[in-house]
Amino acid sequence: MLAFSSHISIILLLFLHATTFNISICTNHKVVHCNEKDHMALIMFKQNIIDPFNKLSTWSSEHDCCAWEGIYCHNTTGRVTSLDLYSLGTESKYLEGEINLSALFQLEFLNYIDLSYNFFTNLSIPFIHYNFTTRLQYLDLSGNDGLHIDNLNWLSQISSLKYLNLSNIDIHKQTKWLHIMALLPSLSELRLSRCKLTNIYPSLKYVNFTSLVTLDLSQNNFSSKLPHWLVNITSDISEISLGGSNLHGEIPLSLLNLQALELLDLSDNSLSGSIPSSIGKLSSLNYFDISSNFLRGNLPESIGQLVKLNTLRIGNNRFSGVLSDTIFSKLSNLRTLDLSNSNFEFEMDTNWIPSFQLSEIDLGNTFQGPNFPSWLSTQISLEYLDISSTGISSIEVDVWNFVAGIDNIYLSNNSISGDISNITLTSTIICLDHNNFTGRLPRMTANAAYVDVSHNSFSEGLPNGWENWNELIYMNMESNKLSGELPLDMSNMTILEFMHLGENELSGKIPMSMPLSLKLMILRSNQFVGHIPSQLCGLTSLSILDLAHNKLSGPIPHCLQNITSMVSGETNSVAYFLENIFDLIMKRQELEFKYIGWSHNIDLSVNNLSGEIPSGLFRLVKVRSMNLSHNHLSGKIVKTIGDLKNIESLDLSYNQFAGEIPQSISGLTFLESFNLSYNNFSGQIPQGPQLQTFDAWSYVGNPELCGVPLTKKCTKEENPSMPKQHSESDPFKESLYLGMGVGFAVAFWGVCGSLFFNKTLRYTYFRLLSSVPDRIYVIVAVKFRNFRRT
Ligand SMILES: *[C@@H]1O[C@H](CO)[C@@H](O)[C@H](O)[C@H]1NC(C)=O
Ligand SMILES: *[C@@H]1O[C@H](CO)[C@@H](O)[C@H](O)[C@H]1NC(C)=O
Ligand SMILES: *[C@@H]1O[C@H](CO)[C@@H](O)[C@H](O)[C@H]1NC(C)=O
Ligand SMILES: *[C@@H]1O[C@H](CO)[C@@H](O)[C@H](O)[C@H]1NC(C)=O
Ligand SMILES: *[C@@H]1O[C@H](CO)[C@@H](O)[C@H](O)[C@H]1NC(C)=O
Ligand SMILES: *[C@@H]1O[C@H](CO)[C@@H](O)[C@H](O)[C@H]1NC(C)=O
Ligand SMILES: *[C@@H]1O[C@H](CO)[C@@H](O)[C@H](O)[C@H]1NC(C)=O
Ligand SMILES: *[C@@H]1O[C@H](CO)[C@@H](O)[C@H](O)[C@H]1NC(C)=O
Ligand SMILES: *[C@@H]1O[C@H](CO)[C@@H](O)[C@H](O)[C@H]1NC(C)=O
Ligand SMILES: *[C@@H]1O[C@H](CO)[C@@H](O)[C@H](O)[C@H]1NC(C)=O
Ligand SMILES: *[C@@H]1O[C@H](CO)[C@@H](O)[C@H](O)[C@H]1NC(C)=O
Ligand SMILES: *[C@@H]1O[C@H](CO)[C@@H](O)[C@H](O)[C@H]1NC(C)=O
Repeated sequence: MLAFSSHISIILLLFLHATTFNISICTNHKVVHCNEKDHMALIMFKQNIIDPFNKLSTWSSEHDCCAWEGIYCHNTTGRVTSLDLYSLGTESKYLEGEINLSALFQLEFLNYIDLSYNFFTNLSIPFIHYNFTTRLQYLDLSGNDGLHIDNLNWLSQISSLKYLNLSNIDIHKQTKWLHIMALLPSLSELRLSRCKLTNIYPSLKYVNFTSLVTLDLSQNNFSSKLPHWLVNITSDISEISLGGSNLHGEIPLSLLNLQALELLDLSDNSLSGSIPSSIGKLSSLNYFDISSNFLRGNLPESIGQLVKLNTLRIGNNRFSGVLSDTIFSKLSNLRTLDLSNSNFEFEMDTNWIPSFQLSEIDLGNTFQGPNFPSWLSTQISLEYLDISSTGISSIEVDVWNFVAGIDNIYLSNNSISGDISNITLTSTIICLDHNNFTGRLPRMTANAAYVDVSHNSFSEGLPNGWENWNELIYMNMESNKLSGELPLDMSNMTILEFMHLGENELSGKIPMSMPLSLKLMILRSNQFVGHIPSQLCGLTSLSILDLAHNKLSGPIPHCLQNITSMVSGETNSVAYFLENIFDLIMKRQELEFKYIGWSHNIDLSVNNLSGEIPSGLFRLVKVRSMNLSHNHLSGKIVKTIGDLKNIESLDLSYNQFAGEIPQSISGLTFLESFNLSYNNFSGQIPQGPQLQTFDAWSYVGNPELCGVPLTKKCTKEENPSMPKQHSESDPFKESLYLGMGVGFAVAFWGVCGSLFFNKTLRYTYFRLLSSVPDRIYVIVAVKFRNFRRT
């Protein structure tokens, strides 16, 4: 392959040699032509690139190399000056393979390289003693997640470098990274976010960053105090980002000497102590984020002097004291305010008209109620409103009309009551869960992407035209009193992935035409009737199917093995990110949470299903939990049940299954919860190491069954006996398995409700979503981010 392409490029070279030579004679022509040396270097660079999307199709002999995609030449000399092959943006055509930096450094006039957001996995660096002269000023290799650079010594030769971005590249093996970077006399912007760095050299007194203006070392893992060198880095430093980098200790007073600071982000660390009372000295500050730390005390008065402040995030700390509107009186430039998860006593004058117009306000988990804070209604440009868990119980109709136009609304976990069926919410993210709403659901527009109205008392039917909301990704209407039938054709909701309608009073049949994008479908505890439509088998991405506690009848469809996600699916779907989120949330709260697989569950229990188990059901080898209990299923259990290698919980109780229990069950090594009770099984109970962990409760109510753990012996007739006490198995886990739907509800609630206490977490969530290569996720993520930028 390599030999082949180099062959081609030689031919190509010869060809171009002839043509360029001649074309360059046409003097009056405006178009410049590529320098031969540069051309050869680029061909060398291209050789090791893998180009699956043919992004470099213009890199051929048919075009002059100054006309190649991403190449920019000087307009008179024809020397290549820029290489811009970043892959962000609308087209996600990326490049793979190797970056040959040595080849690029042969482009003597190259001053700009952007190869960010591709999937390069290798970097070939110039030999240590290699002599090169470069005019490179801008180097961005960020977002090539698979890349690691173990040696950065070559950087020290690029004395012209002004901008360096290696974010998302693992460079932790280069232990002296700071020393190398500090040797770059012109460096003004250094971005090393998520580089897996572990050493920030906390005791180093002085680092010679003579020209540095922007320093981003966020999302690393330093386990350190703020370093000494930071406080006198250069007097021109204007941006310091150290968010999420595992820093502890106090904010040093001397940091306030950096008078040119415009951006200071220390969020999501473990900083303690208080905000220095002279913070007002940083008079240029416009972005100040110290959210999610362990800072205490009052908000210093002098913060009110930071008149340039645009973003103030101090949420999720341990601040206390009275917060009145006077502190904000001069902050007329404020656009983003995060005071969430704090114990402030809010004493805003009821007639307060702030001097600012916010676009984002986060008051989540603070005390505001019982009325909607009146000053909020003056914020007519608001795009993001979080007043979840604030004790608000009433919102006037006028205020609703104001709220309804905000793009992201988080009103979860209050006790807001009332009928809002006449309100039209035009928002993208709508969190009304865990309140006391009654009446019909509010009207929502087709903008809605993320809707959680769960745990209220909404009644009557689903919103009109709901089935045509084609931006909807996530919908949770669990635990309301919704009634009526589902629309027959829901296939226009082409990106809906999560549909939780459990615990309502919905009736009628399960629609035959469901959104093909569904990953999770929970319809449990409703009044659905009729058969399970075989069209469900076409939902190939489904990894959670919960139809329990309905009135479904007829057989289990034969085609369930068509749900490929349960046969061969990867876990990077629902489970992947919910597990991650959940994990994160739990870590924050320092609760111990036992890992449990959320994905790949089928729950059809408590219906009127009849007939035999179709053999295809046992081909769903990814399934971790299957509950068919409390139906009228009959027939024998075939031995292919042993193919369910990943199953952790299996409940076939309260049916009419008969025959022997197949020995193959003893091979289900992950089985932790197992119930065959109250059927007509007969013969001897199979034995096996895993099966020995189950006691008689797993088998009772099968009069013909014998052997351990039942007391009925298989050889002689003896009284079948009932065990005296319940199993010793972990009650916590049991209850989780009991209703996966319930377990999921927790996770669901998590997304709208419990993220409030850590904003960073919410961003993490959206970032996580966006890291899954799936356009759906990107939609929410991008919308969110766009908004954040403004
Ligand atoms: C190149 O251009 C020169 C002068 O215009 C001409 O004499 C020569 O034949 C051309 N060569 C080729 C290969 O076209
Ligand atoms: C070349 O670029 C420079 C600056 O970028 C510009 O001033 C000049 O007019 C350009 N010349 C031509 C021939 O386009
Ligand atoms: C990279 O380019 C240099 C200079 O053009 C060349 O000598 C080297 O062989 C290339 N490296 C690889 C791995 O192809
Ligand atoms: C490129 O990187 C991958 C993964 O880091 C490694 O397995 C492979 O050997 C590298 N290829 C070359 C040519 O260095
Ligand atoms: C690098 O180039 C400089 C100037 O051209 C020369 O003085 C030096 O000896 C060279 N070093 C090597 C290792 O070739
Ligand atoms: C550069 O680094 C920052 C993190 O500091 C990152 O957010 C950004 O996307 C990177 N790349 C570009 C092209 O800006
Ligand atoms: C700041 O840098 C100077 C060297 O220029 C050094 O002597 C001094 O100790 C540093 N200050 C702090 C607070 O580290
Ligand atoms: C810092 O860098 C400047 C410019 O490169 C140099 O003149 C100075 O000696 C350096 N200082 C230290 C302490 O390394
Ligand atoms: C919800 O409303 C009902 C009836 O209006 C009332 O009985 C109940 O206490 C309310 N619950 C909460 C949590 O406010
Ligand atoms: C909604 O609007 C209709 C028509 O304007 C009115 O009759 C009805 O009472 C309103 N409902 C509520 C709950 O305000
Ligand atoms: C789906 O959308 C198309 C185009 O917007 C529309 O014509 C069609 O009626 C919709 N189908 C349903 C079932 O609503
Ligand atoms: C299930 O898949 C098979 C093979 O791909 C296909 O022939 C069959 O029509 C599918 N059944 C349903 C109900 O989708």
